[in-house]
Amino acid sequence: MSLAKGLVNKNYCAPAEITLTRRSLQHLQAESDEGFRLSDDNVAAVQGASIVVLAVLPQQLRKVMEEIAPAIDRQNQLFVSVVSGVSCAEIRAVLGEEAQVVRAMPNTAIAIGQSMTCIAADQVLPELMDEVTRMFETVGAVVTINEDLMTSATALCACGIAFFLRGIRAASQGGVEIGFHAHDALKMAVQTAKGAADLLLQTNSHPEGEIDKVTSPKGCTIAGLNEMEHNGFSSAFIKGIKLSALKAGNLYHD
Ligand SMILES: NC(=O)c1ccc[n+]([C@@H]2O[C@H](COP(=O)([O-])OP(=O)(O)OC[C@H]3O[C@@H](n4cnc5c(N)ncnc54)[C@H](OP(=O)(O)O)[C@@H]3O)[C@@H](O)[C@H]2O)c1
Repeated sequence: MSLAKGLVNKNYCAPAEITLTRRSLQHLQAESDEGFRLSDDNVAAVQGASIVVLAVLPQQLRKVMEEIAPAIDRQNQLFVSVVSGVSCAEIRAVLGEEAQVVRAMPNTAIAIGQSMTCIAADQVLPELMDEVTRMFETVGAVVTINEDLMTSATALCACGIAFFLRGIRAASQGGVEIGFHAHDALKMAVQTAKGAADLLLQTNSHPEGEIDKVTSPKGCTIAGLNEMEHNGFSSAFIKGIKLSALKAGNLYHD
């Protein structure tokens, strides 16, 4: 849903060119009002589509693939799977060996055109890879990676949104404790986080270089930063990302 909205917001295509499918269509009234076509029939939805995006939970994927397999056009359709932990080979094993499959791992910032999307394929026509790159570049940044790193990309980029959001929430809670009202503290934390990210993006600088600029000797920034590190800040982040990557690799097979 986020992908569809992001693509429409960024004029990649019109809502009427996208068919959204769900089993319970009553949840898609807003999308219907926005002009998307809706269906609870996956087979009908894939017919005539040039790109089929698989975006169900890992444990729901096999059923959907078995349902659409007899109806797909392997010569003319491209399959893009955003499902965590399911390889291109596993998808082709159900859809057919000739199926063109690309995996993509976006994050929820796709809805506002700010996704970090990693894409990977093991055997796909270069022009189809270019098309998928173009599609996801409309809604954020794209990095092409080896398929064996897709679960790592899930942890760092898709789960990563939650990690950074929790960091912002924690900063705002600290802000309340030192005197700000919750809404002001949250606004300050959000804009400070955005500023930090934009600094890196726009100057191409390294985080430690930017940190050095704000840590004066015996100063308050280094004191706060070191206190966080003594409490395991970097270590907690790294351990969390590693655990998420481990879990992401097992979602389809458990
Ligand atoms: N959330 C993220 O940040 C993120 C980022 C990257 C990738 N992903 C991947 O994207 C996939 C979806 O994640 P999500 O967070 O969007 O999960 P979700 O909210 O549970 O969405 C799954 C959707 O699939 C629909 N669905 C289930 N079975 C279906 C069927 N047989 N036919 C048609 N629709 C069906 C569900 O609607 P009904 O129940 O009404 O059918 C629901 O709308 C997952 O594999 C996840 O790993 C998620």
